[in-house]
Order: sequence, then C-alpha cells, then structure tokens
Amino acid sequence: MERPQPDSMPQDLSEALKEATKEVHTQAENVEFMKNFQKGQVTRDGFKLVMASLYHIYVALEEEIERNKENPVYTPLYFPEELHRRAALEQDMAFWYGPHWQETIPYTAATRSYTRRLHTVGRTEPELLVAHAYTRYLGDLSGGQVLKKIAQKALDLPSSGEGLSFFTFPNIASATKFKQLYRARMNTLEMTPEVRRRVIEEAKTAFLLNIQLFEELQSLLTQDTEGWDQSPPAAAPGLRRREDSKVQGSIPTQMPSEKPKQNIFSRGPLVRWLLTLSFLVTTVAVGLYAM
Ligand code: HEM
Repeated sequence: MERPQPDSMPQDLSEALKEATKEVHTQAENVEFMKNFQKGQVTRDGFKLVMASLYHIYVALEEEIERNKENPVYTPLYFPEELHRRAALEQDMAFWYGPHWQETIPYTAATRSYTRRLHTVGRTEPELLVAHAYTRYLGDLSGGQVLKKIAQKALDLPSSGEGLSFFTFPNIASATKFKQLYRARMNTLEMTPEVRRRVIEEAKTAFLLNIQLFEELQSLLTQDTEGWDQSPPAAAPGLRRREDSKVQGSIPTQMPSEKPKQNIFSRGPLVRWLLTLSFLVTTVAVGLYAM
C-alpha cells in the first residue's frame, strides 16, 4: 500500500528534493574535507584526488543518462550541451595527471561504490536517475562555483581556467536562470507517489555517497602524510588505479611532499652504530665459542 505524503511535503518535486536534502546538504558542507576546502586549505594532492573521483562519477552518470535519454522518466532533463562534464573532466585529467592520465588516475573504493550505484540505477531503476542528476548538476551550478574560486586562489592556478574546466559551464549564460529551467523540467516528470518517494530517498543516498567519498579522501590524505613520518608509505586501502590495471597502492600522484623511501640503514647514526656493535659482539662470541 502506498503511504500518503505528509501534509508538509511540497507539491513540486524540485521543492520536495530541496527540502528533503537540506539536512544532508549541511552534513556534506561540514565534512572535514569540505570544511578545509572552504577555508582555502586544499592541497594539490587533495584536489587531484577529488577530481579523479569526479571523472569516474561523471563517466558513469553520463553513460546512464545516454542510455536513458529517450526514456520519458529522464528526457526532460537531458541537457548534454549545457551540463555534461565528461569532456571537461578529461581536459582536467590531462592537466593534473599528464598525457598518460588514463593509466595513472586513482579509482578509490568510495568512488567505485558511487559509480556502481549509478550503473544499477541507470540499468534497473532509471526513474531514479533524476535524483543523481539533480544532486550533482545543481550542486555544481551552486556551491561548485564558490569552490572553483577557492581552488583557483589556493592552488595558484592560471586565470585562463586550466585545470578547472569541470567548474566552467560555457553553454550556460546564467546559472540562476538555468537552475530555474531545470527545476521546472523536474516538475514536469510524471510519477506515482511511490516513485516520488523513492526519488527523494535516492537523492539522500546520492548525498551520502558524496559524503562517504569526501570522508574516504580525507582519510587517504591523512594516512598518506602520516605514513611518510613513520615507515615507508603505507598502501592506502581502498585506493586503486583504473579497474583494468588492478593496481593497489598509495596515492599514485606525484607528491610534492614525498620523502625518499627509508630503509633501516638510512635511519640515522644511532641505528647504524647499534648494528655495528651487535655485529662486533656476535663476531667475538663466535670466535670465543670456536676456541
Ligand atoms: C563546501 C560545500 C558546499 C557548499 C559551500 C555548497 C553551497 C551551496 C549553495 C550556496 C547552494 C545554493 C542554495 C540555494 O540556491 O538556495 C547550494 C545548492 C545545492 N547544493 Fe551545495 N554546497 C556544498 C556542497 C554540496 C555537495 C557535496 C552537494 C552534493 C554532491 C551539493 C548539492 C547541492 C544541490 C543539489 C543544490 C541545489 C539545491 C536546490 O536548489 O534544490 N552541495 N549549495
């Protein structure tokens, strides 16, 4: 049996989504990675990681959008020229990772969970695709524009916008007007109350997938920096390169902060001195035993 909508639930899908994701949006703004970002505390390593994740996410999202572009559950929201980010992210990947980026960009576990969900939705529940498109594209046209300026300043990037193509929408003259159009289109989608309820739930899931991603990236960055001080860089669990290469390892980016790998012999004079002493003691002991 279908549950009735609470009286307070707005009629328009756009309003209902905004309302229902308010809390989880605040949560997303307040994860450590995002809080640091907003304060301008974003490193090249952190930025490269998040951009590579976005590349995988948009490849999956836009593959599913293409699959469903003629499905009436999605068609009114099909704006490839205005919105699609894959080509822009390819340019950014080349900027950040160089010409062989396809073989070297990381693909983290949380990114993989996100892309897996996108493919499941696109293939088996396309009526929920609107929730993912809403969460990403309207977010990119809102807070994304603030993040662009912060990154440009913090990372000292050229004003030409190189490395930040993802944040630039050359075919959208006014983000505010485009968002209005997009909301109006969302409101034309016909759906039963049950589907509407699932769409709203899926939007919250989409936000949670983003939150999990930021949490994972933060822990990878922290682990990696901690690793430098203690022992040879620890392999970051959950981080691998592209699926086909199946490579496990720590953040496969060129770390400006990277210190040379240490072995026991490079650990300083005390360790060397102790090793020499124990070698001498062993030699004398063996000599005495043989006498
Ligand atoms: C530092 C992090 C973030 C900041 C500063 C930020 C900021 C904003 C701002 C200022 C708006 C406009 C609100 C309005 O028009 O009333 C907005 C809207 C939005 N944001 Fe964010 N945001 C952040 C993170 C995120 C994340 C991680 C997501 C999801 C991936 C997201 C998704 C959205 C969506 C979907 C909207 C449109 C809401 C609507 O009008 O229905 N935001 N954000």
